[in-house]
Amino acid sequence: MAATEDVAIVRLGVEDAAAGLVLSTEARWNQNEDDWRFFLSKGIVIGVRDDTRRLIATAALLPYSAGNAWISMVLVTESWRRRGIATRLVDSCLSTAKQMGLTSWLDATPAGATVYGPLGFAPTLELRRLRLENSGSSAEAASSLETCDPVAFAAHDARAMGFSRDALLSEFAGRPGSRMVKKGNAMALVRNGRTARHIAPLFADSPDEALALVQAIVRSERGPLLLDAVHSQSQFLEGLTGCGWNIERPFQRMRFGNAVTQATEPPFAVAGPEYG
Ligand SMILES: CC(C)(COP(=O)(O)OP(=O)(O)OC[C@H]1O[C@@H](n2cnc3c(N)ncnc32)[C@H](O)[C@@H]1OP(=O)(O)O)[C@@H](O)C(=O)NCCC(=O)NCCS
Repeated sequence: MAATEDVAIVRLGVEDAAAGLVLSTEARWNQNEDDWRFFLSKGIVIGVRDDTRRLIATAALLPYSAGNAWISMVLVTESWRRRGIATRLVDSCLSTAKQMGLTSWLDATPAGATVYGPLGFAPTLELRRLRLENSGSSAEAASSLETCDPVAFAAHDARAMGFSRDALLSEFAGRPGSRMVKKGNAMALVRNGRTARHIAPLFADSPDEALALVQAIVRSERGPLLLDAVHSQSQFLEGLTGCGWNIERPFQRMRFGNAVTQATEPPFAVAGPEYG
């Protein structure tokens, strides 16, 4: 096996989507091939291959608007861990972001946070990944959900992030199986994932409204569901765990450098740790 300083970092392309999916599946993540295709076509994805050209590590930098970018898909296959590969890949993403004048953000798993802290990332929001094993279909609940106006949805998202992500939201909404739904003033996007459907993001005026929307979605879906709740929305989190949702893992949002934009409306659930 090569020493870490010998491994070459290469730029990946859309043809690497299936190999990327092997890495995220090994880590038991929920991303599917559509997610990889989006990162590989709209972002800057770098990786490392072994002597047989097998992809063994990745990291992605996804430029957003107003001088912001998201770093994600930081994955190293198990047999190559603890040799500094993730550190080198994230460092390379940071150099690219610096050249492009972008402030980098990411949502770290506990293992990821041990890599990013020493590189200079500072913690911001805390998130919790929740999973519900069994949602149940009911025509009555489905009829209590309305279709959401994409323009209103994008406006909420821009207030939640402090910048707009129109390309990302259009991509999500255009995927087969995606739904943009509302109940009262609460709205959410539901999309396919590898092992579970994902409610992400979710905006509402109050925890009660947010919970009522989740419950209506749960009754209108089949199979497991995921969502990434903002930890400070404690009433919402308690409501979810009180009706069968289990906390799977924490995520720590982190930022490298100064904030260049200001979020004005915290969401109840984010778009996913890979997208922010
Ligand atoms: C997290 C992950 C990307 C780290 O990759 P890596 O190449 O092993 O990381 P590095 O070798 O650059 O680690 C740098 C330092 O981070 C810390 N670190 C990394 N992984 C760690 C772990 N599992 N536990 C404790 N510390 C860890 C150590 O301080 C390490 O330095 P050391 O090996 O000299 O002690 C890899 O374990 C992985 O793919 N995990 C599953 C997916 C994941 O959680 N990705 C992060 C998403 S935010």
